Amino acid sequence: MSAPMKKPGKSDPSRPREDGYGYKRDFYRSEQVAEDYDFHRFSSPERQKRNARKWAAIRRALAQATGVRTILDLPCGTGRFTGGLTREGFEVVGSDISMEMLRKAASIPGGSGPAIRGYVQANAEALPLRGDSLDCVMSIRFMMHVDPATRVRMLREFARVSRRWMIIDYRHKYTIRYVLTNTFGKLGLGRAPLSRVSRKELEAEFAAAGLAIRDVIRVSTPLFSDKWVVLAERA
Ligand SMILES: C[S@@+](CC[C@H](N)C(=O)[O-])C[C@H]1O[C@@H](n2cnc3c(N)ncnc32)[C@H](O)[C@@H]1O
Repeated sequence: MSAPMKKPGKSDPSRPREDGYGYKRDFYRSEQVAEDYDFHRFSSPERQKRNARKWAAIRRALAQATGVRTILDLPCGTGRFTGGLTREGFEVVGSDISMEMLRKAASIPGGSGPAIRGYVQANAEALPLRGDSLDCVMSIRFMMHVDPATRVRMLREFARVSRRWMIIDYRHKYTIRYVLTNTFGKLGLGRAPLSRVSRKELEAEFAAAGLAIRDVIRVSTPLFSDKWVVLAERA
């Protein structure tokens, strides 16, 4: 009899043990974490479905972003969407603060080839790129780790290096999970309240960074999914 297939679990090395941006900025700078990352997040059928829904939302945003040829995938992590972008005909620069994640991204199928313009180790707070370097900055599964003030500084950096478009994944408040976690957290009966934005807070952050929101795409079922993919351009 063959051994049962290992399922992603709470003790996997790439499952963060703490919340907060400072911790998350350093957590992925580890070979063990980079090695385990795709298995933990995308190996089960349910997680693959979530992945497909996210990709569909990104494609909807890309379909509206006219004139895009070059994309900065930041942070690219292990390259979850890098190959998909090149297959759609875009030229991609992958970037991440973690060399370990970048190495992994470059090693997977679709992680190299003529449409990959290179990989750059960078901190999203101060990008080592000239202004107007690319047509679009795409940032997925990242901003929810970052505090609001730093998020605005990052959005300004994205707006500086992008000639026009930004596609940014945000997490919002309008879910049953948020209401429950927030209520129990405030009562001291559970983990700290999740950092999630209202529509008004989202608009204020983008306006503070000089960006105009063109579309907010819901990734999945209302009240259950907290994911928005936001298409914005320089105002
Ligand atoms: C949850 S992963 C998301 C990666 C990828 N976009 C995805 O959807 O799978 C978060 C990534 O952010 C990177 N990261 C954390 N802080 C960063 C920073 N200040 N600048 C650039 N990358 C950062 C981490 O190294 C990690 O690879």
